[in-house]
Amino acid sequence: MSSTVERTPSKISPPNAPRTRFWRRPWIGPLMLLAATFLGLAVPRYLTFDPAQANVPAPEGFEAHYGLLVAHVLCGTVAMVTACFQIWPAFRARHPGAHRVMGRVYVLAGVLPGGLLAIAVGSLSPFGPVVRAANITLAVLWLTVTLMGFRMARRRRIAEHRRWMVRSFALTFAIITTRVVGMIVGFAMYGEQMAEISGPTDPRMQMFSGIGVWVGMMLNIVIAEWWLERGTASQRAARRRRAVQR
Ligand code: HEM
Repeated sequence: MSSTVERTPSKISPPNAPRTRFWRRPWIGPLMLLAATFLGLAVPRYLTFDPAQANVPAPEGFEAHYGLLVAHVLCGTVAMVTACFQIWPAFRARHPGAHRVMGRVYVLAGVLPGGLLAIAVGSLSPFGPVVRAANITLAVLWLTVTLMGFRMARRRRIAEHRRWMVRSFALTFAIITTRVVGMIVGFAMYGEQMAEISGPTDPRMQMFSGIGVWVGMMLNIVIAEWWLERGTASQRAARRRRAVQR
């Protein structure tokens, strides 16, 4: 992970910065749709506050599990919704004040409590030791890169802030990738048996869920690093100009 030390004024983009047309960022709409679909499918059952609706049964003797799980889901939702606005270039450029407020909400009401709660529920996950290790690794990485990004923003080291936050958003969205990868691996490995696999203690579910979390997390980390190496639009334009001059 390379780091670029660069100090810039506190505003991410000046208010009179040229407008970036939405078709130049074709990923924003699909990303928001993906987040809305995931939240719409995964979250409502936890808004009933009925433990019988939860997909994750409480481990024996862990009375606080349901409350912690619901709190984690709510904080995860805050993180995912605010992340959508934070990575939207036009929103950042036009509303730098809102970007700063939402950034604090993302870190302090989303990732920080959501990550700590993920460690609490994840360390006793009924999905078995491989999923436990994967979720704890994901949560620790999520907390670390986000706090680094927050620290860099407070020091006005904006280029570094951007890099850490790209990593943080990639891990916020990893929760979707891990599930998609898990399902693909599950169907590839067990085919029609998938209809009969239900509980988290089934070794087949533990197998494809474990692969899903590890591979899904790695995939998003690789995509984030590729995105960062690619550079910003102005860095790419400068590279193209240099190549033409050579
Ligand atoms: C990226 C770091 C995250 C980690 C490490 C993490 C970890 C966990 C863990 C350990 C569980 C309990 C399942 C188990 O015991 O194995 C869980 C459940 C859940 N998490 Fe997260 N989570 C993260 C982010 C998010 C985000 C951003 C959301 C967005 C809303 C979210 C939504 C949920 C939901 C809905 C459940 C309930 C499980 C279900 O109904 O399928 N998580 N998470």
